[in-house]
Amino acid sequence: MYLFFETEARSKKDRGLVTIGKIYQLKGAAWWFIVILRKNVIKVNPSVNKLPALSENNRIFAMYNKKHNNMKKVIVISTSLRVGSNSDMLADQFVEGAKAAGNEVEKIALTGKTISFCKGCLACQKLGKCVIKDDANGIMQKVLEADVVCWATPIYYYEMSGQMKTLIDRMNAMYSLDYKFRDIYLLTTAAEDEPEVPKRAEAGLTGWVDCYPKSRLAATLFCGGVDAPRTIEGNSKLHEAYELGKNV
Ligand SMILES: Cc1cc2nc3c(=O)[nH]c(=O)nc-3n(C[C@H](O)[C@H](O)[C@H](O)COP(=O)(O)O)c2cc1C
Repeated sequence: MYLFFETEARSKKDRGLVTIGKIYQLKGAAWWFIVILRKNVIKVNPSVNKLPALSENNRIFAMYNKKHNNMKKVIVISTSLRVGSNSDMLADQFVEGAKAAGNEVEKIALTGKTISFCKGCLACQKLGKCVIKDDANGIMQKVLEADVVCWATPIYYYEMSGQMKTLIDRMNAMYSLDYKFRDIYLLTTAAEDEPEVPKRAEAGLTGWVDCYPKSRLAATLFCGGVDAPRTIEGNSKLHEAYELGKNV
């Protein structure tokens, strides 16, 4: 129709007709635009007549926000160095439980890591990190940024493993820094099954926790009676570790 008016417009009268045609064409387009808009709005939600698609997006956004605000950053440090480690299997269950509850979980196994002894120079108190260049600084950074820290250790001479204690000492730079973590967990395994077997390890970790007053030793889990590698398989403590992780 528009083309007809354009091609046939030769006289003044014709040009007038063209203008009238254009006006009608524009009015028609506007009318169709309104019809299409109304149809689409009603199609999304017939009961609400004002941009319901937007309110639906808001609802999804709120759900996303809630989920992510409740999500915790969990770090699990497994300190046994042996293949088929019992305490590592407890750690794995804790990880699975924490993940199942929707948390962001990272497990750090000390196997293959280099962590030297603390020299006691205290340079870390000025630098905010240790001067020794090995894996300790990286682990410390992750601990600082976590909400939850879970330690897993075999009982060695009624105490935590030497490698766990070495790492704790090497994270001494944290003492002068701010930290996010609040809940600390401890998972232990030992050959003997008496309840007092893990007590010194728990007390030792409490010494560390007490230096960070915004945190607490939230829970401990001990699995005794497991000596050889993988003897923990089928033990009900694995399920307890899962539940502990699920409820961080
Ligand atoms: C150096 C050393 C010291 C140990 N000391 C104890 C101990 O004091 N009490 C105990 O019940 N078991 C002790 N055990 C046994 C371990 O705690 C036990 O095998 C545990 O399940 C090991 O955990 P893992 O497999 O995670 O390394 C010791 C083992 C080693 C290698």
